[in-house]
Amino acid sequence: MTAHKAGDPTTLGRLYGRSVGKPLREGRQRLVDEVLPRIAVPVDGPVTAERLFGPDSHGRPLHFEIGFGGGEHLAARAAQLPQDLFIGAEPFLNGVAQAVGHVADQPLASIRLHHGDALEVLERMPDGALSMLYLLHPDPWPKARHAKRRMMNDGPLALFARKLRPGGELRFGTDHPVYLRHALMLMRRFEATFEWLVAAPADWQQRPADWPPTRYEAKALKDGHEIWYFRYRRR
Ligand SMILES: C[S@@+](CC[C@H](N)C(=O)[O-])C[C@H]1O[C@@H](n2cnc3c(N)ncnc32)[C@H](O)[C@@H]1O
Repeated sequence: MTAHKAGDPTTLGRLYGRSVGKPLREGRQRLVDEVLPRIAVPVDGPVTAERLFGPDSHGRPLHFEIGFGGGEHLAARAAQLPQDLFIGAEPFLNGVAQAVGHVADQPLASIRLHHGDALEVLERMPDGALSMLYLLHPDPWPKARHAKRRMMNDGPLALFARKLRPGGELRFGTDHPVYLRHALMLMRRFEATFEWLVAAPADWQQRPADWPPTRYEAKALKDGHEIWYFRYRRR
């Protein structure tokens, strides 16, 4: 896939994985052609709430979902928090088409979508702009030699820290033991920046009530996997 920026040895500046799957059905293609342009994040220039949502956006919490898959979680969070604003990025076109369907079904004027790399969009946002950032079931890249491709790495984590406001929240979920170990190791390195919101094992073994399930999670549960849920507060 295309790189948006060269030079960084970690996940930053590279986009891994597939972007195109089965051809879109006619209805979905129509959504992508007709609805997506109206709710798409501009392809260049600053990504600010004012630019995307207009002057009414002032003071409203801004959420960002990295790799929203089919968009179920993004749409459910927007329905839970009607006063808040949401941006999601996903390079896989079939997922974007499904998410546009969710947005078009329930006119959620508070959602904007980007078909492409989440890190590229985050880099164009002002520092401290985000109240919440979601990284739910990132591609695991389980082989050690692919570890640099994982979304959780030093470069992206430093970027997440800059874009979250102090007191903002990073949510991360995985069912993958290799990714879990990798994430815990990295987050220890970021202890001065992110506080793990944990008091008891249930905090990471049970899905918090305001954390809608994702499609990937539903499948993992059906396959008998355990899911681990992490909430970190930006110090
Ligand atoms: C295992 S899927 C999980 C999808 C969804 N979060 C869920 O839980 O159902 C991982 C997703 O991350 C997306 N992804 C990979 N690299 C990305 C990037 N640089 N920016 C945004 N999304 C990315 C993939 O296209 C894929 O849809």
